[in-house]
Amino acid sequence: MSRISDHLGIQNRHLTIGGVDTVLLAHEYGTPLYVIDEDRVRRNFRTFKGAFPDADIYYAAKANWNLAILRILASEGAGADVFSDGELYAALIAGIPPDRILFNGNSKTLSELKMAIDAEVRVSIDSLQELYALSNLSLESGKTVEIAFRVNPDVSPDTHPKIATGLATSKFGIGYTDVLEAYNEAKELPGVRPVGIHCHIGSQITDVSPFNEAVEKMMDIVEQITRLSIDLKFVDLGGGLGIPYQKEMETPSPRDLAGAILPTFNERSKNLGISPKLILEPGRYIVGDSSILLTGVNTTKRSAKNFVGVDAGLNLLIRPAMYDAYHEVVVANKADLDRAETYDIVGPICESGDIIAKDRKLPLIEPGDTLAVLDVGAYGFSMSSQYNGRCRCAEVLICDGRVDLIRRREDYGDMIAKQAMPARLL
Ligand code: LLP
Repeated sequence: MSRISDHLGIQNRHLTIGGVDTVLLAHEYGTPLYVIDEDRVRRNFRTFKGAFPDADIYYAAKANWNLAILRILASEGAGADVFSDGELYAALIAGIPPDRILFNGNSKTLSELKMAIDAEVRVSIDSLQELYALSNLSLESGKTVEIAFRVNPDVSPDTHPKIATGLATSKFGIGYTDVLEAYNEAKELPGVRPVGIHCHIGSQITDVSPFNEAVEKMMDIVEQITRLSIDLKFVDLGGGLGIPYQKEMETPSPRDLAGAILPTFNERSKNLGISPKLILEPGRYIVGDSSILLTGVNTTKRSAKNFVGVDAGLNLLIRPAMYDAYHEVVVANKADLDRAETYDIVGPICESGDIIAKDRKLPLIEPGDTLAVLDVGAYGFSMSSQYNGRCRCAEVLICDGRVDLIRRREDYGDMIAKQAMPARLL
């Protein structure tokens, strides 16, 4: 058996994940199929936590909010960053303790705020208007909600523009020059207690210097907040650590990230005589490389390009179409054959942009082969849709050579379950 990574290997020509033959998985469960390696998720979490032993790690549920994943992370001691009522619901039923959940969002509904109050989780506030709304709602409930403000630190990381979130022009947060006023306001309002500060500068960041810039700016604000006699319990610096989607890509480790953040955070906290908890919200780093998407080959066609038509498209993995994202592809049943051909791997969706991978050197591909798209654990299934009337696929979890179905494949009934035919059309 040869290895591609810790959890991916090749045995008898077949790609394996967590020691399990992916070709057999495709046979047994059908394709498309998301396959997640539990051990990899746990290990990634432990590596991250190991670099920040004194911090709280709030897993960004948006990356993959399958209940099994949330449950695994709860058992590792993770909290959660949730960005909607649905993510909050999932995090709670998976067993993430409410006092380790931060409800984020730039445009929350009143019912989402009410849900946060009822669940007794902390809320990251994105605007003054939201602050007033939350204060009113908590007064009605007779509760006091602990809050942070989401700060827009005006930091520009080198990542895809669609996933840079801390630019001055980004829709997220309150400008760092305006946020002090928000704390002043919150201090006097009933029903809310400002106890934290929050930012998130973007995602798939592959250089740690923007994190350092962000923590410096955040600690400047912390200093001013402390002068207002607000006792800060936490400083949440968000997520964003990138992962190497391509072998030759160099990405910083959680330790490198710690090296960029902790000296500033610790020293400036000490100088101020305060000891807020550091919170980080990694999503991609925890689950990104834990999963593969198995997809069956329907057709091959040589025209202007050499096309391989597979059964998973942007309906199940939108990252390549949306961000020109690169995902490695392996022919799962010919994993160690010479890469003799160059292909575009395209999905079955009626969009020219439905391309999973472009100009890839791969072994000769024939109908019936199974391809594996790698590193799809973050923002893969969680961004899926039913576009073109395609049922979402199943997900399985591998643990110690065992396979558990953690999401059944949708059927046509699921697809139309919430539709209603007006009586006059019957
Ligand atoms: N915290 C907040 C407030 C966030 O908005 C995000 C991601 C994270 C944490 C986690 O970031 P991570 O560690 O995963 O980079 N769909 C895009 C990524 C969007 C990220 C949105 N926010 C993609 O597929 O690349």
